[in-house]
Amino acid sequence: MARILSCIQPTGDVQLGNYFGAIRRWVEDQTPESFHGIVDLHALTVPRDPVEMRAKTLELAQILLASGLDPTSTTLFVQSHVHEHAELGWIMGCTAALGELERMTQFKDKSARQSGFISGGLLLYPALMAADILLYDADEVPVGDDQRQHIELTRDVAGRFNARYGDTFVVPKATIARAGARIMDLQNPTNKMSKSADSPQGTVLVLDDPKDIERKIKRAVTDTDNEVRYDPETKPGLANLLQILAVCTATTPDAVAGRYQQYGPLKADTAAALVEYLRPVQRRFAELESDPSYVRKVLSDGADKAQSVAAVTLARARKALGLLER
Ligand code: TYM
Repeated sequence: MARILSCIQPTGDVQLGNYFGAIRRWVEDQTPESFHGIVDLHALTVPRDPVEMRAKTLELAQILLASGLDPTSTTLFVQSHVHEHAELGWIMGCTAALGELERMTQFKDKSARQSGFISGGLLLYPALMAADILLYDADEVPVGDDQRQHIELTRDVAGRFNARYGDTFVVPKATIARAGARIMDLQNPTNKMSKSADSPQGTVLVLDDPKDIERKIKRAVTDTDNEVRYDPETKPGLANLLQILAVCTATTPDAVAGRYQQYGPLKADTAAALVEYLRPVQRRFAELESDPSYVRKVLSDGADKAQSVAAVTLARARKALGLLER
């Protein structure tokens, strides 16, 4: 059975891209070999409001459980509860080359977008991410398309460490869904949908009210030729809607495209399907929201389980490096 690990940041609100590209796949493929982390340390690359930080971490755990992660199977934990992540993160920072880190698209984009203060953490972000993955001897990392480059870097640093110090880490691979791996902003369909983007009308949140979901989908930017065809290159807005409807109805964008002649009915059906798709998640979220102590217990048990695995891997890495034991 493949060991699976993937994580999500507790920043902003969970949006449809997170759900389609990552969360739904974690739920569908979960086994006792699944590990999923809420990566709060990753969220610190920009200053955060501490009250919101705590609230968003708990809310994200509730959303993941409401989505169907089953804590009797999957290990769900908060990254900072397992100190091994920060320790191996430093070691990975020393294993990655400065040039490799500087070449990361997300680093380049984010550092270009931020005016003024840019933290050193933004550069080291992928080293901590490599640590998250390698600590669990993960074979597979189910992520959206935007994380592909970070997983490639993880493979490179794992291989480099193994070559320098002897076989220590499992070299993982990214698994990327065929549909839903890159959900685009509904208003700017050449940009990916993002919880940090300043585009509320272009971003569907998993906890959005059904009326808001309908409005956002119906106002989604398409083109004007009114020909329904799946072509992400020349018709990115329409292709995005076809992807969304395909995921909701468990089919392919091409198959969905064959059923429509006009944009209006396609938009109406996509909105309706999405509302139905998210309804059970929203209902379970409301139930879990009233029981925060249950969620805290899940996270505490998850941290124990995660740590029992992570500690063994970190000890292996320390030994390989020749760090003196106490
Ligand atoms: P994050 O928190 O930005 O996103 C979580 C997951 O959602 C996917 N995703 C998308 N998929 C499709 N379309 C979109 N528009 C879209 N937007 C986001 C992301 O690809 C991701 O899978 N660096 C990671 C968190 C991380 C991690 C890890 C992931 C830290 N350590 C170890 C895997 C393994 C991130 O910022 O994800």
